[in-house]
Amino acid sequence: MPPPINILAIESSCDETSAAVISEGKILSNVIAGQKVHEVYGGVVPELASRAHQQNIIPVVAQALNLSKIQKNDLSAVAYTKGPGLLGSLLVGVSFAKSFAQGLGIPTIDVNHLQAHVLSLFIDEPKPSFPFLCLTVSGGHTQLVLVSDYLKMEIIGTTLDDAAGECFDKAAKIMGLTYPGGPEIDKLSRTGNPQKFNFPIADVPGFDFSFSGLKTNFLYFFRERMKSDALFFEKECPDICASLQHAIVTALIIKLKSAALKLNIREVALSGGVSANSYLRHYFEKTGGELGWKTHYPKISYCTDNAAMIAMAGYYKYLKGEFADERAVPVARWVG
Ligand code: KG4
Ligand code: ZN
Repeated sequence: MPPPINILAIESSCDETSAAVISEGKILSNVIAGQKVHEVYGGVVPELASRAHQQNIIPVVAQALNLSKIQKNDLSAVAYTKGPGLLGSLLVGVSFAKSFAQGLGIPTIDVNHLQAHVLSLFIDEPKPSFPFLCLTVSGGHTQLVLVSDYLKMEIIGTTLDDAAGECFDKAAKIMGLTYPGGPEIDKLSRTGNPQKFNFPIADVPGFDFSFSGLKTNFLYFFRERMKSDALFFEKECPDICASLQHAIVTALIIKLKSAALKLNIREVALSGGVSANSYLRHYFEKTGGELGWKTHYPKISYCTDNAAMIAMAGYYKYLKGEFADERAVPVARWVG
């Protein structure tokens, strides 16, 4: 019998340092170290993120290996996020993964972060069946993806400007909430009235999205109201958050619904950090119920950035023999 396929995976594209171990397609461990250092800045500071990754990477990998009970000599490959993401942050993960694999004499697998968000849907049961439509909503991206196989994905819609998560985070910053703002707005909205204030939903052709108009509209709305009543936020916080959240989520669901109807697809999924949003999940389930969809979304800890999804993508790429190309040697000169 061939030895089991064991893969160590590393994710470091933004502000989470994460490592996971997968064996024969089953996640054995998933360790995530967040970075509190960005909170006071209201957004990720790239230079600080890379430094924190440098500090975190070795302990995070050690813990992931420990929890998995897989010995490093029993690893078959090391998978890592190759992008998209912050260059300095990615470099820490890529360099670590390549050196670690080199030391063990095993191959590396480069993984696209957004493809991995989609494949987070395959970590737990019930898994989606192909083809399905996935709305990937994160801090940096908003994409409608037609998924016809594990590694066969077509982007049929994308944001023309800001991502949905960015809209949550920037609006939260305007209100003086802590970063990341998405989960804060989600929490504060729970007792709010989503119909209290009206925010615009961009009318973009096709399956594309746009959130920059909504963000600017929110900025002027908030400034004006605070100017005429300094206690506006204090008095109306839940309603402001719920109304903003309603606008973002409605914009997402409108496009998801029109794409599913046009493509005649009933297997529909969410992924990415914003798919942790309780209102989006609720609205998605409700729409799915009305249209007869089979709905899917990852559990909360697999929505935001994590190495388990990189491990999942790494596993499918390993099965297809898709490894990172280590032959690309820079032009080097012997100067001894
Ligand atoms: O996927 P992710 O961890 O990182 C990127 O690839 O960008 O997504 C992070 C984004 C942030 O914008 C964060 O505010 C948002 O996901 N987010 C949420 C919630 N949890 C995380 N947005 C709304 N509601 C939430 N519960
Ligand atoms: Zn992400």
